[in-house]
Amino acid sequence: MKNIAILGSTGSIGTNTLELVEALGDTFNVVGLAAGENTSLLLRQVEKFRPEIVSLKTKEAAAKLKERLKNRKVRVVYGSEGAEEVACFERNDIVVSAITGIEGLRPTLAAVRAGLRVALASKESLVVAGAILQAEAEASGAEVIPVDSEHSGIFQCLAKEKRENVKKVTLTASGGPFFQTPLSEIKGKSVEEALDHPRWKMGKKVTVDSATLMNKGLELVEARWLFGLRPSELAILIHPQSIVHSLVELRDGSTLAQLSPTDMKIPIQYALTYPKRVSSRLPELDLARVRSLEFYPVDEKRFPLIRLARLALEKEKSFPVALNAANEVAVEAFLNRRIGFSAIVEVVSEVVGLHRLSEAASLEEVFAIDRETREQAATLIKRRF
Ligand SMILES: NC(=O)c1ccc[n+]([C@@H]2O[C@H](COP(=O)([O-])OP(=O)(O)OC[C@H]3O[C@@H](n4cnc5c(N)ncnc54)[C@H](OP(=O)(O)O)[C@@H]3O)[C@@H](O)[C@H]2O)c1
Repeated sequence: MKNIAILGSTGSIGTNTLELVEALGDTFNVVGLAAGENTSLLLRQVEKFRPEIVSLKTKEAAAKLKERLKNRKVRVVYGSEGAEEVACFERNDIVVSAITGIEGLRPTLAAVRAGLRVALASKESLVVAGAILQAEAEASGAEVIPVDSEHSGIFQCLAKEKRENVKKVTLTASGGPFFQTPLSEIKGKSVEEALDHPRWKMGKKVTVDSATLMNKGLELVEARWLFGLRPSELAILIHPQSIVHSLVELRDGSTLAQLSPTDMKIPIQYALTYPKRVSSRLPELDLARVRSLEFYPVDEKRFPLIRLARLALEKEKSFPVALNAANEVAVEAFLNRRIGFSAIVEVVSEVVGLHRLSEAASLEEVFAIDRETREQAATLIKRRF
């Protein structure tokens, strides 16, 4: 039995992981859970899975949980340090990293430094600190296994391939809810329409990122770090059915693809059980029912953030940090109804357009650039909208 800690246990990836753990019986034992503000769901998770350590975002929320857990033997911590403590808890074998945004970076790094297997969903951590995480993983021997369905697909396709055989890696994107919306109508799209994803049920931030295709842009940078690929080796295709998650083109003209139903439990399970495959009660792929698999090129006029993500791939250093920070602020402002949908692109483009490239070689620098860019984005939003 493997001990598992879940960072972001109350979110979409977190709850899917806990459902899997339950379905897999005695394979995994939950020892740690970290969440943000959803105290009531965390309480239910503690009662069901009996972890030894749990963390919440604030001291107040942790105190409330402690009060309700009076008779339980569980350590309750809080804040970023609390999530880090859960991440490197001494009994952990596997850590699922699924806290959205740069908030996930410190705990992810703690798990990597502890030399654990990290089932990584929090793509923003790799986007803003890919070089740091990679160096720490090499030093500690941590295994970073992707959870994102596209990266899990690439990971599976590359398992038996030599790096020199790989010519191109293609990530697929569903295209989100506005793939076929006339450009003139996208501007006025509401929060509800942006959150109505045609294929995946996910957290709000990643769902909005899927509507702007920034999610795919972040995934390009994620793939660069996970698989050591050059910008010219990375491509995107729109694939509305979300059945083929990625394609790996080899130098002899063969292309490998990974297909599975649109269910995040499949890549999560693989990250937990790798290199083993276990049978599960997960949905089966029925291609006769799917019937057609379509692929389209990405229209960068419709999805201009892809161009900025490509720039982040080429420039590296502080650029991806700034891109991520501006995007996090803009998406939050959209979700809070302070700006419209098309203003996300406007804010991100303008803020990163002013960004002055620096090294971002240390964690302190990454957080300083993140802070500075957030302030710039917030000021722009206040001034203009
Ligand atoms: N959902 C998917 O299908 C999917 C697929 C691929 C990759 N991903 C990636 O996985 C990550 C998580 O996505 P999601 O869809 O699961 O998001 P989500 O549903 O919004 O969940 C986010 C989780 O992070 C927790 N959290 C937020 N801020 C925190 C903080 N400061 N400290 C501790 N915990 C905090 C939340 O807690 P509370 O809810 O308690 O506040 C929640 O448990 C993202 O990076 C996303 O891009 C998701």
